[in-house]
Amino acid sequence: MKQDMFVILDQGSDENAALARRVRAMGCYSEIHPHDITREELAALPGVRGVILSHGKNTLPDGSAPVPHADALTLYPTLDAPCSDEALRTFLFDTCHASPTWTTENFIDDAVEQLRRQIGDRRVLLALSGGVDSSVVAALLIRAIGDQLVCVHVNHGLLRKGEPEQVVRVFRDELGAKLIYVDATDRFLNKLAGVSEPEAKRKIIGAEFIDVFAEEAAKLSGIDFLAQGTIYPDIAESGTKTGKAVKAHHNVGGLPEKFDFELVEPLKYLFKDEVRAVGHALGLPDSMVYRQPFPGPGLGVRCLGAITRDRLEAVRESDAILREEFARAGLEGKVWQYFTLIPDFRSTGVKDNARAFEWPVIIRAVNTVDAMTATIERLDWDLLDRITYRITHEVPGVNRVCYDLSPKPTGTIEWE
Ligand code: XMP
Repeated sequence: MKQDMFVILDQGSDENAALARRVRAMGCYSEIHPHDITREELAALPGVRGVILSHGKNTLPDGSAPVPHADALTLYPTLDAPCSDEALRTFLFDTCHASPTWTTENFIDDAVEQLRRQIGDRRVLLALSGGVDSSVVAALLIRAIGDQLVCVHVNHGLLRKGEPEQVVRVFRDELGAKLIYVDATDRFLNKLAGVSEPEAKRKIIGAEFIDVFAEEAAKLSGIDFLAQGTIYPDIAESGTKTGKAVKAHHNVGGLPEKFDFELVEPLKYLFKDEVRAVGHALGLPDSMVYRQPFPGPGLGVRCLGAITRDRLEAVRESDAILREEFARAGLEGKVWQYFTLIPDFRSTGVKDNARAFEWPVIIRAVNTVDAMTATIERLDWDLLDRITYRITHEVPGVNRVCYDLSPKPTGTIEWE
């Protein structure tokens, strides 16, 4: 390992992740570990220079406060948090003599070496959705093991305009990945036909995804590993070994439970912006690395009610127009999430001097830090005008555009 590491002992503080980030911002790698880590477990971690005790208010199920193993703390110098930046810096570099070795390049070198050691000459399977995390995992594994990686891209027909094509172009044509492309659009839309309840739609999409992926996996032989784009926020909040789990996390809708594969999770200690930096350094296009969040069920939850092909195409086309106009207005990467959705009712309008009983499209543009609450982006009126004109003139079957002004709460970001 090229990197010095600091261990943050989780004693129930809300500040653990922020503290881990502060240490990394100073150039040192950090990991959060449960307060009850033993001396042996701590000694087995590579490159540890010091331990930071992050104090919190949580209590364990038996009512006691989480306290670290005293003998574990005798191994390395310790620092109590919260602490000032100055105190933290003094601890890292003067007390513990760490070097600021935490860089994207060092991470990639270490991860490649570790992956090669873990995988050897065996093969790895990856569900490549085209999202940031799975794309970066793919790029890292291509660097580490080349064509021992098999990617499966399941197009459920609910992706944004141009996305499946981009996945194939970037990974198969440019990076030379072994990529199996499955167009399962008809299969998903047939299963979803007539289903209007949002959670039922989500369940069908999730279950169908696993079925399609499992069928593709069954056609392959000699695969030992399943790669996953788990990232640090997915696991950093999971509490302590003995204490409460703050949140139960699982990834890719239950894939690991379904398969008897060993897991490969090369991003599991990275925060989102670090994942993006790794993707950028590995040569992935910015449109993939810096893309806005997009839900797993995709346009399936933006085509409200029972999905129909005409409305699905209308939401896909209007979303593409919205994104194009946002990019032209310099708003790409500045607004947290923006998209269109289409309800399942029509309204009266006029087109070409005739009555047009057609669908409305709704624009959503929100800003948030953690998606728990959100505010509305105050879009420029001329921009809204332009988007409205284009959508109502270029997207078949749409005669109105509305702009949703509801923050979260009381709205959620998605409508379903
Ligand atoms: P809400 O609508 O709950 O959305 O305010 C918060 C964030 O979560 C995304 N979202 C989802 N992501 N599967 C996902 O992977 C889902 O079923 C899902 N539902 C909402 C949403 O896009 C927003 O960023």
